[in-house]
Amino acid sequence: MWDADGRIMQYDATFRWFGFLLDTLVEALATSVNGTASQATAALTQRLATTVCDTHDQYCTGENQQYDNSTACYNFLTTAIPLGKDYELGRDTLLCREVHEHMVQYDPALHCPHIGPTGGDYCVNDQTYAQKVLQKYFNESWIVGVQSTEDKWLGN
Ligand SMILES: *[C@@H]1O[C@H](CO)[C@@H](O)[C@H](O)[C@H]1NC(C)=O
Ligand SMILES: *[C@@H]1O[C@H](CO)[C@@H](O)[C@H](O)[C@H]1NC(C)=O
Ligand SMILES: *[C@@H]1O[C@H](CO)[C@@H](O)[C@H](O)[C@H]1NC(C)=O
Repeated sequence: MWDADGRIMQYDATFRWFGFLLDTLVEALATSVNGTASQATAALTQRLATTVCDTHDQYCTGENQQYDNSTACYNFLTTAIPLGKDYELGRDTLLCREVHEHMVQYDPALHCPHIGPTGGDYCVNDQTYAQKVLQKYFNESWIVGVQSTEDKWLGN
């Protein structure tokens, strides 16, 4: 949705068949490592954790540091939190930190907490399923002439 000056006011995006994609990637990885799906998932976990920790060590220094050292980072990401399911990119998971890892280089002060142990208000389990689906997320109704109070998806 754009305002009168053509600036984006709000947007809604869906990655169609995202769960299907993740399962397909894990199957492909299983074939490439000649292993089972769970071995592939373990390999994926190790690779993602290593990537996130490398990014942390490079960009999250000084006040932005989240982990004591690389070992503490790797141990946390591989044992303290789950890899995450396809709908958990915004929850306390490794997949969520993998998404935010790509943004760290552009603004470490803003994004380092998101890959750290706390999840920095982004990678957190702060809503139940019911709270998530009933949240009045959008400020503007998506449908002209329909008041936002009529439908939770339409706005506040
Ligand atoms: C894959 O694993 C199986 C069972 O461990 C083994 O018999 C086979 O030789 C392996 N294939 C390759 C290409 O490594
Ligand atoms: C890494 O940090 C942990 C605490 O998070 C500490 O117990 C460990 O000794 C540290 N390892 C090294 C090599 O400094
Ligand atoms: C809705 O409005 C509030 C208050 O201005 C703002 O903080 C919030 O980011 C807005 N939400 C969206 C999805 O634009």
